This record gives sequence, C-alpha cells and structure tokens, in this order.
Amino acid sequence: MTLRANASFIRDRQGHSLPRQEMITEIQAQSRGDTKELVAVGEHFDIVFIDADQRNAVNDYNFVMDNHLLRMDGVICVENTLMKGQVYLENISDENVLAVRNLNNVINSDPRVEQVILPVQGGMSVIRRSRAHADRVIESKKELVKDDVFWGYNRCHILDRLRLDGKVAYVTGGGQGIGRAFAHALGEAGAKVAIVDLVLAKAEVVAEELSLKGIKSMAMGADVSKPEDVQRILDAIVARWGTVHIACNNAGINMNSASEDTSLEEWDKTFNVNLRGLFLCCQAAGRIMLKQGYGKIINTASMASLIVPHPQKQLAYNASKAGVVKLTQTLGTEWIDRGVRVNCISPGIVDTPLIHSEELKPLVQRWLTDIPAGKLAQVTDLQAAVVYLASEASDYMTGHNLAIEGGQSLW
Ligand SMILES: NC(=O)c1ccc[n+]([C@@H]2O[C@H](COP(=O)([O-])OP(=O)(O)OC[C@H]3O[C@@H](n4cnc5c(N)ncnc54)[C@H](O)[C@@H]3O)[C@@H](O)[C@H]2O)c1
Repeated sequence: MTLRANASFIRDRQGHSLPRQEMITEIQAQSRGDTKELVAVGEHFDIVFIDADQRNAVNDYNFVMDNHLLRMDGVICVENTLMKGQVYLENISDENVLAVRNLNNVINSDPRVEQVILPVQGGMSVIRRSRAHADRVIESKKELVKDDVFWGYNRCHILDRLRLDGKVAYVTGGGQGIGRAFAHALGEAGAKVAIVDLVLAKAEVVAEELSLKGIKSMAMGADVSKPEDVQRILDAIVARWGTVHIACNNAGINMNSASEDTSLEEWDKTFNVNLRGLFLCCQAAGRIMLKQGYGKIINTASMASLIVPHPQKQLAYNASKAGVVKLTQTLGTEWIDRGVRVNCISPGIVDTPLIHSEELKPLVQRWLTDIPAGKLAQVTDLQAAVVYLASEASDYMTGHNLAIEGGQSLW
C-alpha cells in the first residue's frame, strides 16, 4: 500500500519535515510494520494506491477507510482489480483471483464509497467517498443541525468556495512585484487573468508564466492614468473573454521627497497613477460589473494609509493611498447592493523592486526594528488575501481595508 499525502509538512518521528519522496517511503515502511504508527502520523491522504494482487489488499482497504486516512475528497486507486478478466469467470480456484474477487465484493458492498473500474492494464478501480451515504447517515441523526454550516454554503466546502473557476480577472501593474504574485494567485485559483502593465514586455513575460501553468492569460500594455488606455484594456478583455468579474487595481508608484521639496510634478504624477488611474479602472470595470450585477474590485492601497512610514519622506504617496482607502469605502458602500464588492489590501513593506532604490535600500535594517514580525513581507504573503477577496467567500465584505503588515501599523 502506498499513500500519497498532499501535505509537504509531514514530519518524521524526530519532528523534522520530510521531503515528499522520503515521506512516502517512510509511510510505506510504517505500513509494513506497526500500522498504528501510520495512524499516529495524523495526516489525511489525497491518493492511496492499493495493489489488489497482494495478500493484504482487503486489510489495507479497510485500514484506510476505518482509520479515516483518506481525505474528504481523496481517492483510492486499486490496481489489478480485473485480473485479466478472470474475476468474472466461474469455477476459478486460483487463490489470487479469489482474493481480488473478495476485495471487489468488499468495496462493492461498502456503502461509504462509490467506484468506477477502468479497463486499463490489469484493471484500475478508482474509489471515492459517497456523498449520498454521508447524507443518509446524517439525515438519520436527528440531533444534528443540518444547516449551511454543516453542509457547506451552497453545498460547497470552504476551500471550494475560494475557487475562481470560470471567472475573468485583470491585474494592473501585473508585470512584476505584488501584481505578478496576485496574477499567479488568481490564476491558480481558476480565473483567466489579463496582465496589464505600463511596460508591455513585462506583462508578456508574466502572461507566459501563467500559460506554462495552464492558466489562460493575456498581456496588455497600458498607462492606467490615461482614460483611453483603461477603456481599451477593458474592451479587449470583454472582446476576448466576454466580461470582467475581478478587477485588481494594483499599479502604483512612489517617488520619495521631503514635503517642502515635493514638486507639483511629483504630486501630480503620483496622484495620476495611484488615485486617478485607480479611479478610472474602478469606474470602467464597475460599469461592466454593475450591468451584470456581479463583481469584485480589489484595490492595492498601502499601510501608508494607516500610519506615516518613516524615516523616508513620501507625502504624495501617503496622501494618494489614503485616497485609495476612502475611494474604496465609498464605492464599497455605493455598489454593494448591486452585487459589486470593493475592498482594498494594504501591504506593509514588501520586498519588491519598488523598495530596491539606492535611497531606500539602506533603510531596511531600520524598518525591521519597527515590524513586530521582524521581517519584510514577501509578495507570497499577500496572495491568499487577493483570492479571498476575489471569491464568493468574502461576499459580505465591502469597503474594507485589509492590512497585511506583520503588525507594523500597531506599533
Ligand atoms: N512594495 C511595497 O513595499 C508596497 C507596500 C505597500 C503598497 N504597495 C503598493 O503595491 C502596488 C504594487 O507595488 P510593487 O511593490 O509591486 O511595485 P513595483 O514597482 O514592483 O511594480 C509596479 C508595477 O506597476 C507598473 N506600473 C507603474 N505605473 C503604471 C501605470 N501608470 N500603468 C500601468 N502600470 C504601471 C510598473 O511597470 C510595475 O510593473 C503599488 O500600488 C504600491 O504602491 C507596495
């Protein structure tokens, strides 16, 4: 019996995490020895392989089912369940064939599971838990509360409610840094993703990355501060994929200067991208979403909307990001009763090219003393939040500013 866990964090008996291959070997070794130890690993498995042509196959099958080693949506694959068709012949005395026949009978009469037998090689049975059986057992237990919490809202388990299959998304500033991480996260969750960036070449690279992972994507060059560019990208997405469900307005710039030296040019440039551009995107995407009665807008604000980051000086940036939060709150309340949720994410200091300038690099050590988490955020720290806000699991959330800053805004 080989069990394949999905988790990469299973630990050996000394508490060291095991690489996947070692982990499988470890479990195989345990299953040959004291099977109680296998249960003690405490992990559920996505896939369990059993060879029907083995003496202990029935025991292995019962062991997996009785000890809940199979994940809720996991499968058991049993090889050799047809034994060259001999399992169907009468008057067979071959021990192996009888054992396989016995195993098939056990599986067939087990109400907990349903199965298909594929006529490939020696026969492959693919077995999963039967929902109908679970339903019947649960219905018969009068004392249980059979509500959405029990069954899952719309009969969906919580992780399925985060899926974005069939959804169309775009990410501005998607060519690098946080936007690139958002694009990957949305795509991994099932959405088609348009990558929009001022620099088309960067967007193309990220779109190519997504394609390599089997995610439908397209790349577009656009300056979000220009209304004609914003309209062009939305028209192109609708022409290609029919609509837009998820708008990730993430492009932003930061030009550091002391307030007394901040030029009007810097002020305008910062506001044009960070606030005007974000407004243009919200409005253009919002019009499509309001028409269809559904949409998720996720704006990238900043921890600078909550505190005044220091010692660097960034008046225009801070003010523009405070504007992003107020814009998000206003749209979030104005549009929610028409099915469009608007929220924003406020990252703390994230390790991206934005903070790798010659002026900012020397400040990293200083910043670290201000961050309870003791480290800068990585772009991957933000990915789950964007998927949550893009999914129906967050439908009751609107106008929210979700800070992900390692506790920095609390100190
Ligand atoms: N890095 C941080 O520490 C941090 C912290 C809080 C908030 N943020 C915000 O997160 C967002 C992304 O930041 P990042 O760190 O990934 O930045 P980044 O500079 O690494 O990437 C920004 C991307 O946006 C693109 N872009 C710039 N101006 C544009 C425009 N006018 N139109 C379209 N695309 C444009 C750039 O080409 C670049 O690819 C920004 O809004 C930023 O303010 C960043």
